Amino acid sequence: MAQTQLSSRTILIVTIVIAVLLIVVIWPLSMIGKGSEQAASDSDAIYVRILPVARLELERAPAAAADGKPRDGETVYNAVCMACHASGAAGAPKAGDKAAWAPRIATGTDALVASVTNGKGAMPPKGGAADLTDEEVKAAVAHLVGLAQ
Ligand code: HEC
Repeated sequence: MAQTQLSSRTILIVTIVIAVLLIVVIWPLSMIGKGSEQAASDSDAIYVRILPVARLELERAPAAAADGKPRDGETVYNAVCMACHASGAAGAPKAGDKAAWAPRIATGTDALVASVTNGKGAMPPKGGAADLTDEEVKAAVAHLVGLAQ
């Protein structure tokens, strides 16, 4: 009888020790694993969600000249304006399409520059590149006008 009691107490103690081990050591370890997996998939999900926006911003944002000099019209056009004006997306007058540009050019350079600076129709102000200087906007307009002549 005493023998049986001892062994059941031993079994109880062993069980408790294993339970404590499980709770104190293994459970937190498994949570850490899950936690970092969760974090990884969260950041992946965030990356995937912001990717279209980030890519659009990268395409839109003209690489600022390292020397701080204003970017020329062609550079600005390629970085910002081309997104719409090369294909005619969103109803943009297509670059080089003389018929589409003639009536607009007839309104005068100042009017065109004002349209770009303030935005017009589906075109956001400065074509969406808020960091463009007035000089760069003018140069880009001149480049677009040049393509249509
Ligand atoms: C998001 C697309 C988009 C981008 C980017 C864009 N444009 Fe446009 N642009 C348009 C659309 C659409 C119109 C036609 C607006 C209208 O007449 O309703 C337009 C019209 C113009 C016009 C004619 C304005 C007028 O008064 O008739 C000029 C000039 C012009 N864009 C220059 C630029 C320049 C320069 C850039 C780059 C700095 C640029 N656009 C970037 C969509 C865009």
